[in-house]
Amino acid sequence: MVKKDDFFRETTLRICGSLQIATALADVFDYFKRHFPIIGMRLSIKDDDLGAIRNIALVADNQREFPEEIVPLSKELWSEVQDWAPRVPHIFTADMDERFAALVKLESKAELVMPLWMDEKLCGVLTLRATRKEHFTKRLIELMTSISRPVTIALTNALAHERLKRTSELLAEDNRLMRKEYYLRAADEIIGQDGGMSHVMHMVRQVAPLNNTVLLLGETGTGKELIANAIHFSSAYKDGPFVKVNCGAIPEQLIDSELFGHEKGAFTGAVTAQRGRFERANHGTIFLDEVGELPLQAQIRLLRVLQTREIERVGGQRAIPVDIRVIAATHRNLEGMVLENRFREDLWFRLNVFPLIIPPLRQRKEDIPALIVHFIDKKAKEMGIRKRPAIAPGALEQLMRYNWPGNVRELENLVERELIIRHDASLVFDSLPNAPAGTRQPVAASEDADISGPLPLDDVLAAHIERVLARTKGKVSGSGGAAELLRVNPSTLRARMKKYNIRSKPSVM
Ligand SMILES: Nc1ncnc2c1ncn2[C@@H]1O[C@H](COP(=O)(O)OP(=O)(O)O)[C@@H](O)[C@H]1O
Ligand SMILES: [Mg+2]
Repeated sequence: MVKKDDFFRETTLRICGSLQIATALADVFDYFKRHFPIIGMRLSIKDDDLGAIRNIALVADNQREFPEEIVPLSKELWSEVQDWAPRVPHIFTADMDERFAALVKLESKAELVMPLWMDEKLCGVLTLRATRKEHFTKRLIELMTSISRPVTIALTNALAHERLKRTSELLAEDNRLMRKEYYLRAADEIIGQDGGMSHVMHMVRQVAPLNNTVLLLGETGTGKELIANAIHFSSAYKDGPFVKVNCGAIPEQLIDSELFGHEKGAFTGAVTAQRGRFERANHGTIFLDEVGELPLQAQIRLLRVLQTREIERVGGQRAIPVDIRVIAATHRNLEGMVLENRFREDLWFRLNVFPLIIPPLRQRKEDIPALIVHFIDKKAKEMGIRKRPAIAPGALEQLMRYNWPGNVRELENLVERELIIRHDASLVFDSLPNAPAGTRQPVAASEDADISGPLPLDDVLAAHIERVLARTKGKVSGSGGAAELLRVNPSTLRARMKKYNIRSKPSVM
């Protein structure tokens, strides 16, 4: 028969032999089995945060790997267990008090549960399992009682280790999140995140990880596409495709096959089957840019896809399920269009789940200096200009006073134009339309911008022409030129521009 001292020493060495408590317990189990007919062992902690017993290590004859298990206890049982005296084993059998059924796993066998105390309270239990309760002899109980101290110490060490591990995992998670945030900051190069775009960026961070539809509202050139990108790349879909559709640029008769694809022979010219943009965006993000330009017929079909998350190719029979994040954008006042029956109300409701308004540049002028520097750096690099050109004194101030009807895009184009014109001299930005500012009132250029009071018609006209010119990158006549967009004769437009002292800028594209 094993001597008490030997048993104590051997068990202690084994239970403290590894910080992996499961390994240590398996070792102890092997040793116990040499002396007693037991068939399993379990080490559990009393988890006060959970109000439950957590089985952290189990070994049985032919099983070594158990997942951790949480055993919730009823309130009564919980308080009863708290009172279990230290080193007084409890024996349970199949005909025991059934309240303990959850706590012990009998399956018609017997268990001996030894309470483990630390700092004057119960911290866990060590359980032995046998086929019959007669195997729990007086001798075994005596030996079990003797080792309760080292087992408790091993258990608390394992817990401390676990807590430490969890803390460092939490830290690592924080770190990952921070880096993700950094990624959003650095890689996408959104200027003004701490300035005029801070509110938008806050919303972006909130909405990106959710998979809901986002509607980006803002004037042309404010950065809607950039924000759509940022949302995609910080979403769960970031490893999937980002597919952009310019809803205003697809001829009406092609919209269906562009968006949803077509089967071979669906219409004249459909010589092969083709996947549409929705299908290509599967498991990624589809960016429906200028969604306000969609003809009503296409709006109906888009709504159906948003409702069912299924598409049907033109000429196809089957519905193809798609798993897609939808981001839509428009510079239009969709609500107004709904009132005018130019945009379907039901589609607007679908899209308007999380509207995000990107303010025009004139409402966040504090971002202008950083944007100018950003674009100078970016364009200079693209153009192979090694030395960053300086900005002439006073130029920045003038840029700050300008109204920027074309928003960030206009500013970007201006910087590019300036770099082309100036080469290596300092940048003066005198090609700025409307400079010197102050001769005219600043004009809110968009249809839906809030205009505080009535403006002189000439101011509105001048601002509108400037805005259109910004959009056409200074192109006056010809296809895609400002005259065409404004539906006036180019010579009429030139006369107006002369009257309002608006310069036509050289097209840089
Ligand atoms: N906050 C910003 N920081 C850096 N670049 C910007 C920012 N906002 C817009 N841009 C740039 O300005 C241009 C126009 O932005 P874009 O996203 O296409 O506007 P929108 O889609 O609203 O018309 C793009 O080249 C974009 O990269
Ligand atoms: Mg755009």
